Amino acid sequence: MSDGDDGTLKAALPPLAQARLQSLRLADGVATLVLDVAGLDRLERDRMEIAVKDALRGQEGVSEVRVAMTADKPQRRLIAVGSGKGGVGKSTLSANLAVALAKMGRKVGLVDADIYGPSQPRLLANEGVKPTARDKKLVPVPSPWGVPVLSMGHIIEPGQAIAWRGPMAGNALSQLVDADWGDTELLVVDLPPGTGDVQLTMLQRFKPVGAVIVSTPQDLALMDATRAISLFEQSEVPIIGMVENMAGYACPHCGEVSDPFGQGGAEAAAKSMGHAFLGRIPLDLSIRQDSDAGNPPAAGEGPQAEAFAAIARRVATWLDNQKR
Ligand SMILES: Nc1ncnc2c1ncn2[C@@H]1O[C@H](COP(=O)(O)OP(=O)(O)O)[C@@H](O)[C@H]1O
Ligand SMILES: [Mg+2]
Repeated sequence: MSDGDDGTLKAALPPLAQARLQSLRLADGVATLVLDVAGLDRLERDRMEIAVKDALRGQEGVSEVRVAMTADKPQRRLIAVGSGKGGVGKSTLSANLAVALAKMGRKVGLVDADIYGPSQPRLLANEGVKPTARDKKLVPVPSPWGVPVLSMGHIIEPGQAIAWRGPMAGNALSQLVDADWGDTELLVVDLPPGTGDVQLTMLQRFKPVGAVIVSTPQDLALMDATRAISLFEQSEVPIIGMVENMAGYACPHCGEVSDPFGQGGAEAAAKSMGHAFLGRIPLDLSIRQDSDAGNPPAAGEGPQAEAFAAIARRVATWLDNQKR
């Protein structure tokens, strides 16, 4: 503040603008403000600019008001999908959660952080497509459902063994996250199973806004899930909630649902740990078949698509409540 009274001018601003004020300067009658507009749409930004100008124009010593807005490049938020062990359906959930969110109109991309066992190129039907590069950054590979994807599977030859040590794996992962994601607002990150280096790098470097934990109803898988939860909690990544996968078996012949692994275990576990339960996906042969064929069930219609959509709605609501 070169002249004028900073406090008085600030107090004259509408409360919303005060909360987003990064700097305010008055010099030669020109008030210059920088506002952080992350998360606001165009209409909200325009309204705020008008309100700010109206509020300051009448103030003593102000003949002109200039408003600059930061965060014009979209704030990208990451949500991590984790599990303590492999084979519980983490990749299946990540792909279908992303597709279901895209169906809801969200600008969502997918990072396959399982760099030792990438599966997203197959799940999202862009296997064998090589990402291009722009300004030294990878450009994500499109998929038929409007979900751009980056996976180590897009970069290495199929079947080629990856035997990297932690730091290299961490750097590879950075390239996938810090890519040219354009106007993608949300990245679903399919984490590798376990609680090792890659997971830690991910959490520390990229600070996801929240984590979804997948578990099967079995006690053992739940114990593993508990370990994954404590990894996130240690890294101060909030748990969005838990998903129970392979819950109840829908017989392809008679439709009767039986419970080979029991049911409700993840919901009870979530409750006892004070976490939200996001939903349940049945064990269904068609989920595996469609997934393997690069046809994410969430993209279709019917009960399985609805199961993924319900989880996506809960995640979206959680994200929207986080905005402020
Ligand atoms: N709800 C389900 N019903 C049937 N098969 C499933 C279901 N969820 C996952 N699968 C299958 O189980 C296998 C492991 O799933 P995946 O998502 O790759 O697990 P993870 O990423 O946790 O290792 C895959 O063949 C997948 O198609
Ligand atoms: Mg996987």
